[in-house]
Amino acid sequence: MILNLAKRRKTVRNFKPEIPPLDDILYAIKTAKEAPSGMNSQPWHFLIITDNLMKEKIKKIAESAEKIFYENSKGKLKDFLIKNKITWEKNFLNSAPYLILVFSDIRFPFSKESTWLSIGYFLLALEEKKLSTVTYTPPKPSEIGKIVNAPKFYKLEVILPVGYSNDSKKKQNRKKVDEIVSYNIL
Ligand SMILES: Cc1cc2nc3c(=O)[nH]c(=O)nc-3n(C[C@H](O)[C@H](O)[C@H](O)COP(=O)(O)O)c2cc1C
Repeated sequence: MILNLAKRRKTVRNFKPEIPPLDDILYAIKTAKEAPSGMNSQPWHFLIITDNLMKEKIKKIAESAEKIFYENSKGKLKDFLIKNKITWEKNFLNSAPYLILVFSDIRFPFSKESTWLSIGYFLLALEEKKLSTVTYTPPKPSEIGKIVNAPKFYKLEVILPVGYSNDSKKKQNRKKVDEIVSYNIL
């Protein structure tokens, strides 16, 4: 049942070194491409990275920008990062067996909304295969796009490090249905 997959899924930032079958990644992409999109433009592209050198390059760019971002973070964001022990170091960028870079093709209307819908489908399909990820939204996405030869009209929306979970932390709480649903009028 899809509800069980959705309830079970949680963000994972530590991965085991075992390499999952490429077919499982392709299964998740096959699922993602069934998402609806504005004008059925299907404005998404999935880049699968397995090369260690490329992973290192991405990590280096991301971490140099993250350092500055963390130094400048304040308020609710800072509290969240401390509470969840999230730092500027992004070890999942070279420890996860796969990095899936998801691009939206900005030449189409609603490219962002459509691509994020497909990312949601992708996450649930991963869960079905007992794979985990973190929806990592890197600072300086265009710099990362450049080193993987992305054309100008491809915007990097997210990096999904994918592998088997090595993270025992519990899933974050969710609001109750009656807190988020209204009928007829707010
Ligand atoms: C749009 C979006 C952006 C996110 N960006 C990041 C990120 O850059 N780094 C990170 O560690 N987690 C990121 N997350 C993961 C969230 O922190 C996580 O989903 C949330 O805390 C709920 O935890 P759960 O997924 O385990 O239920 C992002 C999630 C979403 C949906």
